[in-house]
Amino acid sequence: MPITVTPTGAALGAFVTGFDARQITAEDARALNDAFLKHHVIVLRDQHLTDAEQVEFGKCFGEIEKARYISPLSGRDDIMVISNIRSDDGKPLGQLPDGEMSFHFDRIHQAKPCRGAALYCIETPSEGGDTCFSNMVMAYEALPEATKAKLAGKVAVNSFSYTATSRDMKDQGGPRATHPIVRTIPETGKKSLYLCRLMTDRIEGMPEAESNALLDELCDHIENPRFIYQHKWRVGDILVWDNRCTCHARTDFSGAERRLMKRVTIGDNAMPMA
Ligand code: OGA
Ligand code: MN
Repeated sequence: MPITVTPTGAALGAFVTGFDARQITAEDARALNDAFLKHHVIVLRDQHLTDAEQVEFGKCFGEIEKARYISPLSGRDDIMVISNIRSDDGKPLGQLPDGEMSFHFDRIHQAKPCRGAALYCIETPSEGGDTCFSNMVMAYEALPEATKAKLAGKVAVNSFSYTATSRDMKDQGGPRATHPIVRTIPETGKKSLYLCRLMTDRIEGMPEAESNALLDELCDHIENPRFIYQHKWRVGDILVWDNRCTCHARTDFSGAERRLMKRVTIGDNAMPMA
């Protein structure tokens, strides 16, 4: 069956059908990559993957990076388990266990952040825990010319505290990296905003008050619903995002229900470039 790509109708994202993620040909991998570059987020539904099969699927998009923590729910160092499931003594068995998360780019605090990630849904609460993606190419293009001119050539410092899920929890003490605030995606030549509420601390070469005000304004801008696709998870969904030109957030959900997702992180071969 040929692969069909159907846009979500929102600012980004497409559903890919006619494809079993356990059986990938070189031609399929190319078609998936093309859809990934064009739509920034792709969703495949009704998949049935083992951890090993998910890792193989992730390789369609690049090299797989290691997880920071090996979860007993997988036992593999190339699967990041994202879950609120806890041991008998109440310790989370996965990462990012609970509730809402502010908009962020994965690993933006590192010198070479990841290219993307493939997230697979195994258990999902009856309500909430949606993942929202913002189209940073569209958000850049929609900026007034004066703002684009102000941002040209600027870099920002990004940091991460491993336990923070919102800007208020930032401790400023975590690992950090400086990146262009507008980056160019090499394959498409498109410019994309590269800042987020959770992890971007300040724009260099600007007085602190001005930097804070501009970051607040830009964060409000990129979180405008007109740039966003909100994914409501179904068991069996696998969603791949381009972590260079989309940022993502998670809506709240009840701690009384289980959520179990597995993530394969796709590495990049270049640092962000202006
Ligand atoms: C992630 C992430 C959001 C979610 O895996 O990087 O932010 O919906 N996940 O769990
Ligand atoms: Mn994330």
